[in-house]
Order: sequence, then structure tokens, then C-alpha cells
Amino acid sequence: MSLETEKMKESRPELFDFHGVPMIHYFTDNWENIQNFEARPDDILIATYPKAGTTWVSYILDLLYFSQTFADRQASIPIYNRVPFLEFEVPGIGSGKDLADHLPTTPRLIKTHYPVQFVPKSFWEQNCRVVYVARNAKDNMVSYYHFDKMNMIQPEAGEWSSFFQRFMDGKMGFGSWYDHVNGWWKKKQTYSNIHYMYFEDLAEDTGREIDKLCSFLGISPSADVKDKVVSGVQFDNMKKNKMANYSTIPVMDFKISPFMRKGKVGDWKNHFTVAQNQVFDEDYRKKMKDPTLQFRNEI
Ligand code: A3P
Repeated sequence: MSLETEKMKESRPELFDFHGVPMIHYFTDNWENIQNFEARPDDILIATYPKAGTTWVSYILDLLYFSQTFADRQASIPIYNRVPFLEFEVPGIGSGKDLADHLPTTPRLIKTHYPVQFVPKSFWEQNCRVVYVARNAKDNMVSYYHFDKMNMIQPEAGEWSSFFQRFMDGKMGFGSWYDHVNGWWKKKQTYSNIHYMYFEDLAEDTGREIDKLCSFLGISPSADVKDKVVSGVQFDNMKKNKMANYSTIPVMDFKISPFMRKGKVGDWKNHFTVAQNQVFDEDYRKKMKDPTLQFRNEI
């Protein structure tokens, strides 16, 4: 482990206000360069609120495009290097922007957690395809809680009850879940090249959702490739796949929680008390006014 990684373990980053959004410095330090990122028309941006199923969809896209052509890729390149996290800038670990600039593939698959207003303008100017993945707020919150506990470059999670309140208050890295999912949903009304998909649908019927994704991307994989993708991206298979499960990254403590934790819809029921659930639902109704944006908390 490098000295820098050791230091990270000792001091967790704090959230601060960045253009109106709570952020940590690892995702803003390279802001100017990121804003000047030169997207290409065939780039595909995978956009999500953290813990909404980014890695799942990244892996699906990677397999759809490259499993036939780059055999070594599957065995030797971790998913976070195949699909760079654009705003990630952590000394000793890497720069998402540099990785993205040097990706040898076409298309380039690029990941971001930025709220829609932070996305570099070249993605819009080039009319890039965007795949947005959303997950119901309750499961998203639970997943984020466990992630903040085990990931040394994330802010301290604190106690569950305070995390629960902070999530509702939108005081999380990359801001409010409510603003994020709504912001991207609104963008879809004016920018047609967004495929807005849901974690719950993917869990319910992965094959069906892959078909929809392919139709958006304009690709027609063979039945054989599709079968391989559907099987390769099953939770248990990704969990044991070192190139997909983040076990190769030094800042996560899997003894606290693995990255591939449960992969379920409805795990929130094991965390929310009855009282918390009531408070949450009441607050949710006030914040989520758009009837066209609906989430499922169970399937
Ligand atoms: P849980 O913590 O609820 O298990 P992200 O990639 O955006 O960080 O999201 C991580 C979440 O997606 C974790 O949720 C993880 O287990 C889940 N996940 C990742 N791959 C999955 C898969 N193939 N099937 C189901 N869930 C998956």
C-alpha cells in the first residue's frame, strides 16, 4: 500500500459546497480540465447517482461492445480502468480524465456521477449517447451507507440514523438523490439521446433490459453474445470476478463491506425502522412531485 493510500485511511474527506452541490475534493480537484474534456460523437456516457448500479451497467456495456474483440480485456483490466470515472482525481490511484483521454477503444465508455448541470458541455455538443441508471431512493440510501463505511476516500458514514437524515436533506457526495434523478429526468425531455433505466427493471429481467439498451445503442448482438452477457453480469458472477468486483482497488475495506454487497431490491427493509419509513415516505411525497418519474421499492 502506498504512503498516500495510508494517509487516506487516516483522514476521510469532508463535504463542502461546490456550485450549490455537496462534493468532496477528489471529484472537484480536476474541475477545469474535466469541463474542457473533449467528448467524441461516439462516446457513451454512463451517468448515475452513486450506488445506483453503475458498475452493473458499465460491465454490460463493456461486454456488449468488447467481449468478442478484446479477449484479454476480460481477464486483465479492472472495470474502473475500462470505464473511467471522469471526475475521479486521487493521488496515487489515478485520474479518470487522463484514463478517458487515453482509452484505446471505440466507443469510449465513460462514467460520471455528476448531477446533470456539471457534465462537460462537449458531451451535449457532440450529441453523445447517455445511459442514465436510477435506483429507488431507499435501496440507494442503504447501499450508499455501506459504501461510505468501507471506502476510505468517501466521507465518514456515521451512525445509520444520522446518515438517513443526511440523505433526505441531500447532504451527500454528488448532492441530493432527489435533485439528481429529477435533474437527469428533465434533461431527457430536451435531449433525446438519453436512455433512462432503472436498477429494479434490470434486477427483474436483465435480458429484457439489455434488449432495450441495445435498441437505444443501435447494436444487435448475436443470441450467443447476449446469453454470455446476461450470464456474466449476474450478481454472483460479478461478485467473484476480480475484474468487476473492485477487490483490486486499495481504498476499500472489504472486511467492513464488500463492493458487491447484496445486489437486491428491497434490502432497505432490513435497515429502515417502521418510524423511519413513515418519515421517509412523507418527505418523499413532498420532494418527488413529477408523476412521470416513478420508482419501485420492491419487485
Ligand atoms: P448493494 O450495496 O445494494 O449490494 P454502483 O456500481 O453504482 O456503485 O452500485 C453498487 C450497487 O449495485 C451495490 O448494491 C451492488 O451490489 C449492486 N450491483 C452491482 N452489480 C450488480 C449485479 N450484477 N446485480 C445486482 N446488483 C449489482
